[in-house]
This record gives sequence, C-alpha cells and structure tokens, in this order.
Amino acid sequence: MTDYLKCCLTKFPTPVLMDTAKPVEEINDDIRQLADRMKDIMVEAKGIGLAGPQAGVNLRIFVVSTDGTKENAKVYINPTIKVEGSIEANEEGCLSLPGIYGKIKRYSKCTVTATDLDGNAFTEVGEGLLGRAFQHEYDHLEGRMIKDRLSTPAKIRAKRRLKQLQEEYGE
Ligand code: NI
Repeated sequence: MTDYLKCCLTKFPTPVLMDTAKPVEEINDDIRQLADRMKDIMVEAKGIGLAGPQAGVNLRIFVVSTDGTKENAKVYINPTIKVEGSIEANEEGCLSLPGIYGKIKRYSKCTVTATDLDGNAFTEVGEGLLGRAFQHEYDHLEGRMIKDRLSTPAKIRAKRRLKQLQEEYGE
C-alpha cells in the first residue's frame, strides 16, 4: 500500500506541479485514502479545491468544496472538461502559490465528466465559483498554474514573489 497519509501540500517550484499528471489506473483503497488526505490538506490550508500534484502525487484526481468544508468536498478522478460560455476575469489564488493573486480569465461555464470513489462515472456542470474551481484544478493536472495565466503586468508584479518561493521551496 502506498502511504498517502504522509502527503502534504506542495508549493512552487516543486517539480510535480509542473508535470502532466497520469491517469488513475484503478480505484482502490490507496486512492480512497489519497482522496481523504487531499480533503484534509485542502481544509487545513483553507482552500476550496486541491489537485493531486498539490499533494505531491502525479495523478489525475482533484477535490473541490466551494464552501471549504470536508463534508461537501467532492472527488473527481480522471476528469475531462468541456468549457463554454463567455470569458470572465476574476481574482484567484492558489494554495501552491502563496502570496500570488491576480485576475484570471476563465469560461463562465464548464462540464466535468469524472469517476467517483466507487468507480462510477458522473457529469457535473459548473458555473460561477464552481466552474472557476473546476478549471483551476483541471489546469493543475496539466501542469498549469495561475502564474501561467496572469496578465503581463500581473506577471511582472508576481516576479519577486515567485523568486522568493523559488528560494524558499526550491532545491
Ligand atoms: Ni491551485
């Protein structure tokens, strides 16, 4: 058994955050334990979502809870996403990029199809904060973070903070 209980929050520039995550091959007790640990990491860090790479695990799984509670945290395994609607810019942050905030452009609506912890496929439509969280967490599975989506002036403003994070969490 892989010990996912030891997982903790990864911060930029931990390499796993910049990788493309791999599909979850089998939904078993290891994955259920990972999902539970991810919920705890998210709640502890006061976030509303967390993706596998943010727990140091290179797998296509994320959890979202728009009110930040463990009870309402839902697990999405091997998700696909279809975006639609208009593009809206809104303030976002990321637990793996502490101190970095900016207006990020996202689609107003998206549809996520994923597998749950019992191995059943389901589809969910997200708008507003939920739709934004889906797109943010899906980005993590592709190795993308909000620092990559900031406007050019915001990127320039973020430079110093990114350098600090490099020094603090880099090798
Ligand atoms: Ni994030």
